Amino acid sequence: MSDALIDRIAAAENLAELDAVRVALLGKSGEITAKLKSLGAMDAGTRAAEAPRIHALRERVTGAIADRRAALEAAELERKLATEKIDLSLPAPEIVSGTVHPISQVMDELAEIFADLGFSVAEGPEIETQWYNFTALNMGETHPARAMMDTFYVEPRTAGEEARVLRTHTSPVQIRAMEKLGAPLYVIAPGRVYRSDSDATHTPMFHQVEGLAIDRGITLGHLKWTLETFVKAFFERDDIVMRFRPSYFPFTEPSAELDVGWSIEKGRRVVGGNQGWMEILGSGMVHPRVIANCGLDPDEWQGFAFGCGIDRLAMLKYGMSDLRAFFDGDIRWLKHYGFRALDVPTLSGGVGA
Ligand code: PHE
Repeated sequence: MSDALIDRIAAAENLAELDAVRVALLGKSGEITAKLKSLGAMDAGTRAAEAPRIHALRERVTGAIADRRAALEAAELERKLATEKIDLSLPAPEIVSGTVHPISQVMDELAEIFADLGFSVAEGPEIETQWYNFTALNMGETHPARAMMDTFYVEPRTAGEEARVLRTHTSPVQIRAMEKLGAPLYVIAPGRVYRSDSDATHTPMFHQVEGLAIDRGITLGHLKWTLETFVKAFFERDDIVMRFRPSYFPFTEPSAELDVGWSIEKGRRVVGGNQGWMEILGSGMVHPRVIANCGLDPDEWQGFAFGCGIDRLAMLKYGMSDLRAFFDGDIRWLKHYGFRALDVPTLSGGVGA
């Protein structure tokens, strides 16, 4: 009889079945419970013989149920482990869960193009002193260009300290790089800049890349060749026409703005061709006074510099029309215009590919 009970327990194939068996045997109206209850109605002699037998049976059944439960639970765990296991040696699935912002992409492309020309990347702080942002760049305290720049001023930290500014251009990095690295020097400096201005083509924070070459015997011809090589590599076209237009910046002499020819392709204005001109950057030969401000001898060292809006470059190359969308953080826009994180720009692959 008791072996038959044990077989029933062993036959339970899952925890629910086992529980049904347990209730049938040990529950309130279970078979073994009924036997225990029957002890009360027995005479003393029979009870003395039966009680140990019934109690022993209950012990065995209870033990058998616990063993079966443990076995079923272990089997369940094994099954889970088997189905949920991850093979870390398998290749990663094709899930792209983030994109590189077009500004970061363009900065990487610029670094790649200029690295090939021997330029390294320099950096400077976004909260800048007036000396670096203006004075050292040949913009004295009363220079009218200071007023042109819509500058954000930062409250001084201590009384008596001069107010600092959010840098209005990347040109202060020219000064910092010359001071730190001396000459000869070939650097670009991409980064954030700030001006109090806001509409479809202006945001209070935007991006520029500065270029600076300092060496002996640098001429306007070097500047022109460098810019032409850069523009052709960046837009990945050879039919780009350029013109220098005389301009004015306090830190370069002579100064020139660079215009590139554009045309309409598929209803969109693109760089290349000659349907019209648009300005893309400011440049010039570094003013001797700026070179002297950095502790270098302008009779020995000359240089060229240029500054270019990165956001504008990205819009022209990748066809966005509203600058403000760059900074909205809209995930749909980022999915559409973003770049795959593992596609690092290379010159051989075409920097925008
Ligand atoms: N800093 C200038 C601007 O923001 C651009 C520039 C840089 C011009 C370097 C000449 C040389 O407009």
